[in-house]
Amino acid sequence: MHEIARLPAYLALANALQTQIETNLFRVGDRLPSVRSLCNDHRLSLETVLHTLRVLEDRGLVEARPRSGFYIRFRNRLPEPSAQPLRLEESTVEVSKLRYQAFSLGNSKGVIPLGVAIPSPEILPTAKLARMIAAKARSEASEVVGYTDPAGHPKLRRQLARRAGDWGCLTGADDFIVTNGTAEALALALQVTCPPDSAVLVESPTYYGVLEIIKSRGLRVVELPTDPQAGVSPDDVKEAIRSLPNIGACLLVTNYSNPLGCALSPERKKKLVSILAKNSIPLIEDDIYGDLCPSGERRPITAKSFDKDGLVLLCSSISKTLAPGLRVGWISPGKFRDRILQLKTNQTLTCPTITQMAVAEFLEHGAYDAHLRRIRGFFSEQLQRFSSAIVHYFPQNIRISRPQGGFVLWIEFDPRLNATELAARAMNRHRISVAPGCIFSANGKDFQNCLRISCGYPWSAKIDEALKTLGRLAGSNLR
Ligand SMILES: Cc1ncc(COP(=O)(O)O)c(C=O)c1O
Repeated sequence: MHEIARLPAYLALANALQTQIETNLFRVGDRLPSVRSLCNDHRLSLETVLHTLRVLEDRGLVEARPRSGFYIRFRNRLPEPSAQPLRLEESTVEVSKLRYQAFSLGNSKGVIPLGVAIPSPEILPTAKLARMIAAKARSEASEVVGYTDPAGHPKLRRQLARRAGDWGCLTGADDFIVTNGTAEALALALQVTCPPDSAVLVESPTYYGVLEIIKSRGLRVVELPTDPQAGVSPDDVKEAIRSLPNIGACLLVTNYSNPLGCALSPERKKKLVSILAKNSIPLIEDDIYGDLCPSGERRPITAKSFDKDGLVLLCSSISKTLAPGLRVGWISPGKFRDRILQLKTNQTLTCPTITQMAVAEFLEHGAYDAHLRRIRGFFSEQLQRFSSAIVHYFPQNIRISRPQGGFVLWIEFDPRLNATELAARAMNRHRISVAPGCIFSANGKDFQNCLRISCGYPWSAKIDEALKTLGRLAGSNLR
């Protein structure tokens, strides 16, 4: 008692608030009382209360949101998913109907959408974009109905070049080619870099769409162990290149991978680019989640920023930040530019003019940066809410990712659990879509006890109920 009485006022208040947080008087995502009311209620100075809040922040219990206050953070004490061992072998990608189903069913109406990694239209500037599209159609109709430059509308490419500095790149408008989403950018990149029969180095687990594109090009993969925080190790890449002579390219989501949410540090990016360059192997860098860092301004740079040889092909799109349905993506292909442009023109001529014009307008005058700051805060809060509910409802021995950014979670269950069966039951009986782990492996068989859960739709009672149901199904799947 004496001990407590002697604590400085800021620590005594921090400890009292910590007890309230830990006994669930506040829930994850709740706002703490304002600084002013803490001062009034506890008769403390502004300086003392701010000191208290900094202590709670250091303890990982609260987080500050600009101009909004302090919010309760969720502290996940469960272990992270385990990384696979290094397997120095090339595998073919097996066809999996489940990959197609995950995408098509996950997008259907009336389904609780925890399966597809898309942002909810509610958090996108849908009305503003619609207005911009309509205004372009009215005021620039003759340009809208025509083809635009095969490399992409010049206004859009100028906007991309303006933003490239945020990714650490000095890329000019002519260095970009506009594509139908990241998907087309990745397909073109693989087409120009990988000879027939070569293999692609990928992270593991890896986004299933990438596996399908690799499959459709008749290529093989080498699945690299991936640390849930630090990502792929450059030393493993070196070892794979040394042991396997047939590597055509390395394809990685360097910032906030899907499904693990890991990010390569600038040091790893630099080392990786250097190892690949020494071996003349191109890096296809998918940066689709790069803008979705936890809060504030964009933090991660790209591996492309270390590229001195034109060997990094940077691919991305607005699908995770503005509108997946507009299909506006791009590639900055380094020294492969001419071949990519030729292929793009041969295969699809150009991308639709109106969407490029509207997105260029949005990037220039749509308060895009403010929108990005908003959705960064939104996704980071979502990840916390979903993680907290999953830890509460799911069996106790799960492992769960702590994504550094983006908005998906990866859950690893007891090895006996069959997540494919669980996902099928969730869809058929409860209309809940989740992505079973096996679709993130080339053979369609690894990660049988894993699930990916997307946190792109705002927290609601329905989502809470859906997670509760998934927890119950997981419990009964194990019996
Ligand atoms: C890692 C990754 N790359 C590419 C894509 C495809 O994106 P887009 O809609 O830009 O084609 C996705 C979509 O989920 C993804 O997660």
